[in-house]
Amino acid sequence: MRILVTGGNGYIGSHTVRQLLAAGHRVLVLDNFSNSKQEVKIEIQRLCNLSYDLEEVDILDNDKLECAFRNFQPEAVMHFAGLKAVAESFKVPEKYYRENVVGLLNILQLMEKYSCKNIVFSSSATVYGLPTILPITEEHGLNPISPYGRSKLVGENIIKDWSNAGSDRSAVILRYFNPVGAHSSGLIGENPTGVPSNLFPIILRTILGIQPNLEIYGYDYDTHDGTAARDYIHIEDLASAHLAALDLLAVFEGVETFNVGTGRSYTVLDVIKAFEHVTKIQVPYKFVDRRSGDAPNCFADVAKIKRVLGWTSQYGLHQMCDTAWNWCETTKPLT
Ligand code: WQD
Repeated sequence: MRILVTGGNGYIGSHTVRQLLAAGHRVLVLDNFSNSKQEVKIEIQRLCNLSYDLEEVDILDNDKLECAFRNFQPEAVMHFAGLKAVAESFKVPEKYYRENVVGLLNILQLMEKYSCKNIVFSSSATVYGLPTILPITEEHGLNPISPYGRSKLVGENIIKDWSNAGSDRSAVILRYFNPVGAHSSGLIGENPTGVPSNLFPIILRTILGIQPNLEIYGYDYDTHDGTAARDYIHIEDLASAHLAALDLLAVFEGVETFNVGTGRSYTVLDVIKAFEHVTKIQVPYKFVDRRSGDAPNCFADVAKIKRVLGWTSQYGLHQMCDTAWNWCETTKPLT
């Protein structure tokens, strides 16, 4: 199929594009490089000895976006482009709604104009807000507690209404839990622009000595060691879930929503121990106050994606840490 991938040079996008190419799809990536690098294309081509078209296009630039649709005539869209930093979204909420909502509307309007009926939408477990029941099923309440989370929930509702408004429209919404790790080659991985806020890159910066220690946000949560727990999912597993979603788009109409996680959670101290095992380097840390908005524990019920898509995660925590460390040593993204 001809797949248009917005944000395809980013962390999740690049790992998905590699798998799309390997599966024989033709890919056009549109990226504004606000949180990605053009050079990622070279690495992906090295990895799979296949190429793809790459254009610097912002999803808010409707003219350039339409030109891409007109020339490429996509059969499906994978929409990764958007802003995702929770703390930042409180400072500039209007920027998050513009990028994450108006950007999506631009995509859907052009899909309609160019008869593209299939979309895979990047959503997030953040739409659930603080979990009230664990594991979290797709029927859990939707109470996002950040402008970022609310922009994702608005996007989900737009997708649902778009799908119901037209014949033979198909949409899959994927609610990511915590994407981590890197391709085993170490040539692509998480390469955040600016100072990262999430755990894995911060632990890597600490191991590399870029920062003196890791601050652990809270040590008195109701978990086995008092530190908060998350459902970390290997980026290669997350990418393969997108290909499974694409297969579903080909055989159904309407909209389906899936959690994409492993179905289990690890605490911050679990992750530190795994990194120390993999790198043989001690991770200096200190306990500090809880971070506002953090949940004690969060992990997915993954029964639906297994039942409907036949997808399950394959990678464990040590592989997540090992590939993340290998990416660091191979490409040195965080220096
Ligand atoms: C993980 C755990 C922290 C940093 C974020 C986004 C969410 C989604 C996934 C996009 C928590 C602890 C972290 C640190 C720490 N992204 N921590 N010290 O908060 O679960 O979710 O990524 O969709 O929208 O918010 O991930 O990596 O920030 O934190 O103790 O320096 O690590 O308290 O328990 P989070 P995270």
